[in-house]
Amino acid sequence: MKQNRKKRLFIKTYGCQMNVYDSARMADVLAPLGYAPADSPRGADMVILNTCHIREKASEKVFSELGRLRAFKEERRAAGGEMVLAVAGCVAQAEGDEILRRAPQVDLVFGPQTYHRLPEMVVRAARAGGHLDIDFPVESKFDHLPEESADPGAAAFLSIQEGCDKFCSFCVVPYTRGAEFSRPVAAVLAEARRLAAAGAQEITLLGQNVNAYHGEAADGGTWGLGRLLRAVAEIEGVTRLRYTTSHPRDMDDALIAAHGEDPKVMPYLHLPVQSGSDRVLAAMNRQHSADDYLRIVDRLRLARPDIALSSDFIVGFPGETDADFAATLRLVTEVGYAQAYSFKYSPRPGTPAAVEADQVPEEVKTERLAALQQLLGAQAMAFNRACVGKTLPVLLERPGRKAGQLVGRSPYMQSVHVPVSSVGQGRLTGALLDVAIEGATANSLSGRLVMAEDLIAEDRRASKAVAAAVDSLAEGPAQAPASARISA
Ligand code: 5AD
Ligand code: SF4
Repeated sequence: MKQNRKKRLFIKTYGCQMNVYDSARMADVLAPLGYAPADSPRGADMVILNTCHIREKASEKVFSELGRLRAFKEERRAAGGEMVLAVAGCVAQAEGDEILRRAPQVDLVFGPQTYHRLPEMVVRAARAGGHLDIDFPVESKFDHLPEESADPGAAAFLSIQEGCDKFCSFCVVPYTRGAEFSRPVAAVLAEARRLAAAGAQEITLLGQNVNAYHGEAADGGTWGLGRLLRAVAEIEGVTRLRYTTSHPRDMDDALIAAHGEDPKVMPYLHLPVQSGSDRVLAAMNRQHSADDYLRIVDRLRLARPDIALSSDFIVGFPGETDADFAATLRLVTEVGYAQAYSFKYSPRPGTPAAVEADQVPEEVKTERLAALQQLLGAQAMAFNRACVGKTLPVLLERPGRKAGQLVGRSPYMQSVHVPVSSVGQGRLTGALLDVAIEGATANSLSGRLVMAEDLIAEDRRASKAVAAAVDSLAEGPAQAPASARISA
């Protein structure tokens, strides 16, 4: 009798968390066809590269990876098998034809909005080879995806919004991900409930412009992100909420208030500013000034004084002068970031800034990036050092790289490494526990679990003190310590 062998699926994900989410959903779409996750592309029945097009380096990586995969595909064919090779994501969307031309080993190319059609694409590629699907279909993929099948883990992502209508002059997203779209409230809440029921305590709501969210609600109205966060916070089992990535222009009052009023909304926000120069911000079409951004930061800190801020920066945008760059350094100094990402401007085909005449020389970009990263690195180090000596609740998500370690996140999004016993490693994964922070680097914290034993020992010490106080009361009231007088 013929055995129904499980087919092995390997997905390599580049770029942002939206791609991480999409990759998981591609696996969900392919599961009914018998595909199960594999750890390596070698010997896999299907390999998907879920690509990123945001900067030049990100797309270059795809072509070099395709070269490596061709060898695996040939190896598999020589062994009498087949490997379906697919390129997905934003490079696929932007350069689909070119991929098929330059890399004939590729069977399938599809964009971020069409992967719900994967089953039919696989069949078509098997018949004709070189199938391309980079539509922006009228139907939403979300209405056609199966329910999530994988274990979401303790911290899960949930895509609520996609695409972008802002057209920053450096950015490919509006072209690769398409127009802004928000999932309806009911669909988001249903997915959040399923994630919580499957064990996710922390949910990060995702979108390219997540705070531009305006989802249709059952009452016919439209909800913004602030209202949505509060509704997700009410779901049983959800203890922590985050959202990313935001645009300063969409930080409305309700969203800022949610940071102050709902303790489940974590005190951390990634709010890209890109530059501190008004001239550059205008040329980038960001539609706000440096001062507008600083006022938003003030309001956030008023609502939630301990909020940790993160940002994205681009150096060497066309026309950026030394004075413009100095303004960026000033803004960074004024805000004080807990963490940040910074990039050299990379001209992207089809974007307005790419054809600007006054491109900044590479050496200048390199110098500015180094100076900015030094400042941001020092701020991150200072922020992390200030946590040493504090006890922070950490959601322990997974084993660390070193044996006997779990890694989780603090409320401020720092990675925290915690030593645990081999028994504890299994039992404590997924737990939200207090950690006494003992060490800090620019990228992470380390600490010790404040476990029940500590609490019991503390409790014992306290009851001994009470017993001693009661004894001494019996001997005479004059010696009663302050701690025993409460019962008098
Ligand atoms: N060059 C450099 N950085 C870019 N980013 C987006 N497009 C470009 C580009 N063309 C950065 C921005 C954005 C982050 C995701 O990537 O800082 O916020
Ligand atoms: Fe790109 Fe600007 Fe849209 Fe962000 S807001 S995705 S940077 S166009």
